[in-house]
Amino acid sequence: MQNVLDYIRTHRERFENELIEYLRIPSVSAQSSHQPDMQACAGWIASHARQIGLRADVIPTAGHPAVLARTFTRRTLGRPHFVVYGHYDVQPPEPLDLWKSPPFEPRRAGRRLYARGASDNKGQHFAHLKAVEACLRSGAGLPVDLTFLIEGEEEVGSRSLPAFLRQHRRELRCEAFVISDTGIPGLQHPALTYALRGIAAAEITLTGPSRDLHSGIHGGAVDNPALALCQLLAQLRDPHGRITVPGFYKDVRPLTAYERRELDRIPHSDAAYRRFLGAPRLFGEHGFTTSERRTARPTLEINGLTSGYQGQGSKTIIPSWARAKLTLRLVPDQRPSHVIRSLVSHLRRLCPPTVRIEIKSGHGGEPYCMSPRHPLAQAALRALQAAFNRPPVLMREGGSIPIVNDFKRILGADSLLLGLALPDADAHAPNENFHLDCFERGIALGACLWPELARAC
Ligand code: BES
Ligand code: ZN
Repeated sequence: MQNVLDYIRTHRERFENELIEYLRIPSVSAQSSHQPDMQACAGWIASHARQIGLRADVIPTAGHPAVLARTFTRRTLGRPHFVVYGHYDVQPPEPLDLWKSPPFEPRRAGRRLYARGASDNKGQHFAHLKAVEACLRSGAGLPVDLTFLIEGEEEVGSRSLPAFLRQHRRELRCEAFVISDTGIPGLQHPALTYALRGIAAAEITLTGPSRDLHSGIHGGAVDNPALALCQLLAQLRDPHGRITVPGFYKDVRPLTAYERRELDRIPHSDAAYRRFLGAPRLFGEHGFTTSERRTARPTLEINGLTSGYQGQGSKTIIPSWARAKLTLRLVPDQRPSHVIRSLVSHLRRLCPPTVRIEIKSGHGGEPYCMSPRHPLAQAALRALQAAFNRPPVLMREGGSIPIVNDFKRILGADSLLLGLALPDADAHAPNENFHLDCFERGIALGACLWPELARAC
């Protein structure tokens, strides 16, 4: 192990420069103008994997291509096989004026590297690739067979991946998936994430008059769709922060005493968190702590709200329509399809006859949970301890990685979630960054992980 760690230390600077090169490619999956960049990015990471001795292919899908890179030519009988999953696509960088430096011109400031995709997710899976390079090039070797699966559609719902998993079912059969695409509370607190929230999306449109109307001439004669939508949405939550959709909490699995104790080991201050968020006050479902509300309780959010005139000055109209984009974060054992069904019938019941309602349900993903007592989870905890030299914590995360449920359903494998991003990494936001200590610890984690997991198989 010492020579692997020495190799990592010796090549640290080159690793950083390579990551910077990777981050320069604007692989924004949501924007069709970036189509060529998606191809270029898949090509870049595949050729990088080849440079470090892996066999890599860029594989077309119905959407953006996926990359498979293997440490072996042929599987060795009896040798454990793990798949490292990551995504090379990134969120749109807008609003650009809030970035202190351009999102695709990586900038180092102190120990942080600023760029879109730095934490989510290029920096995190790149750490695993560098760990494999270190294991192979230092002569230590690997006690397991590894496949990297790096997709290009995670940020837009992994649409093509389930079919891809079915097509490559035999090659992807493995002991477990290893995913670094979540967070840690701090460098002092490495973490194994054993649960993720699921997600359900809906778009609601209320339509009133067939066109925008003069609000002086016609105001008072018809309902205003924007106001009707506000009133409708306002009824979805009570003053105590509870969602009023009937049956919404019915399937929520409460935290166990053991989970609460684990959660309490993570230092948290509401005051500091409030300042960090820049909000006048924290708010959420009564009866739960902030950490519980963020990770183990379901929520309903308005992500976007549009109606009427948004331009300069004023325009006196009754808008013809109003629209809201909603997502709900779900926890074990809620089901997106059930929740959406209750939401739709609740909204239809509440909607006044003065407007027409149209509801489109969007992408969904089930919540995820694995037992932290699983032998592979225990092995991962030992690797975290070794790499960070600190006792790891067990945590749930509020974000979603819906594909982990397909890994379980299609391939029968659990996912070990070993995040590397700090709470202020600003994923999806301007000035996204990755702490270089996280990068380094992550590479060390990659190196410590495989021997531990191999022993536990
Ligand atoms: N890496 C995140 C997911 C994440 C972040 C999980 C932090 C836990 C903690 C991932 O790239 C992401 O943003 N997922 C989306 C999923 C959605 C597009 C279906 C999310 O959570 O909003
Ligand atoms: Zn993301």
